[in-house]
Amino acid sequence: MTDKRRSIHGSWSSRLAFVLAATGSAVGLGNIWKFPYITGEHGGGAFVIVYLVCIAIIGIPIMMAEVMLGRRGRQSPINTMLTLAREAGADARWSWLGWSGVAAGFLILSYYSVIAGWALAYVFRAMSGTFSGATAEGVSSVFEQLTGDPERLLAWHTIFMVMTMMVVARGVRGGLEQAVRFLVPALFVLLLLLDGYAMASGAFDQGLKFLFTPDFTRIDANGVLIAMGHAFFTLSLGMGAIMVYGSYLPERASIAKTSIIIAVLDTVVALLAGMAIFPIVFANGLEPGAGPGLIFQTLPIAFGHMTGGLVFGTLFFVLLVFAAWTSSISLIEPAVAWLVENRGVTRVHASMYAGITAWAFGLLSILSFNRWADFKPLSFIPIFADATVFKLLDYLTANIMLPLGGLCIAIFSVWVMKRDDSLQELDIGDGAGYRLWYTLVRYVTPVAVIIVFLNVTGLVDFSGLLGLAE
Ligand code: TRP
Repeated sequence: MTDKRRSIHGSWSSRLAFVLAATGSAVGLGNIWKFPYITGEHGGGAFVIVYLVCIAIIGIPIMMAEVMLGRRGRQSPINTMLTLAREAGADARWSWLGWSGVAAGFLILSYYSVIAGWALAYVFRAMSGTFSGATAEGVSSVFEQLTGDPERLLAWHTIFMVMTMMVVARGVRGGLEQAVRFLVPALFVLLLLLDGYAMASGAFDQGLKFLFTPDFTRIDANGVLIAMGHAFFTLSLGMGAIMVYGSYLPERASIAKTSIIIAVLDTVVALLAGMAIFPIVFANGLEPGAGPGLIFQTLPIAFGHMTGGLVFGTLFFVLLVFAAWTSSISLIEPAVAWLVENRGVTRVHASMYAGITAWAFGLLSILSFNRWADFKPLSFIPIFADATVFKLLDYLTANIMLPLGGLCIAIFSVWVMKRDDSLQELDIGDGAGYRLWYTLVRYVTPVAVIIVFLNVTGLVDFSGLLGLAE
């Protein structure tokens, strides 16, 4: 019976199309904007190591689990969880996992679109030669002018959200597959070019050393949670995005192989971005912990000084927008699929409802960068002393909701679902590969997530044991 379940939303044209779409979802602002700045804020090398370990032992197994559940359920995450829970004789409340994913998707998209709006604005700044010969101060003031102006941010945010709604409205195959086919290779080429520039910047060694020499006294419990949260964020895990993409995956495509390919591509993009950015940071005496503006305050310096910088700079921000675009659509796809399934609306209407909801939440982030810049609602908690609403939204979603979602996905896949079912769906045989996945998802992932959570709350203190900073 399960073999005959089909998605009412259509399916990818091939396994390659799925890889491209999932890679498009994974590779985004998380890799190029977020990874460098959080690495900078948390001391570099040690943070990178924790992040890489999380990708390997948590990210890849959870990605396989999400794709597996999606392909078996063949519906929106909410209905997939409901169907699979019934099939396993478990509580229908497992569908709440789908709901919390929908909520996380709205919240993430709300600020993701604001940052993508910055990238859009920068396409035009780069194109008009704003950065030619620019100094670090000049570039910073361009950035501050943009983020200080709520109307301008709102305009770009609105444009990006409309772009997102348009693609989602067109459905699974329309346009998206083509876009990603071009995007990922082009992004690689441009990042390599930037790395080439960084190599000549005079501080390449220092940049590499910062990224790859771990000093565990520079990362604390909160930094470990942020590294783990980012592993979920960058791979689009823990909220059903990859699950819903998996529900469109043709039978007989290897879930293990595709998951590994996606995770490797995603990681390479992030590392290439870091290797381009930190040398420029150090060569110009900038602050690695500058925060969310980091790439917007460093890369333009490179573009302002290299030959062909006008063209490459423009192209870079265009690609960044595309990377964000192929990610943002996956953030509302779970909600859209559910609206179509349960409310009987068309995809076009569903995309509009979902997009407008996320757009409205976006106003919170926009104001965080200007009018509300001094509004720190949770400043009584030490780790949130400096956190604006934007930062809290990011923290809540990436570091709490996604890992919790991942934990539930892990528990469901191996403690609730029948072993025979996951074995059949993953289709990697009963050998070492399957057993490794099973062990990781059954024990390693849940234990790791719980330890990191407990450690950050201070209820249990593992920091000394791990040699971390206090
Ligand atoms: N992975 C994307 C990035 O790194 C962001 C993203 C898209 C995402 N879909 C998601 C994050 C689902 C969490 C969950 O930019």
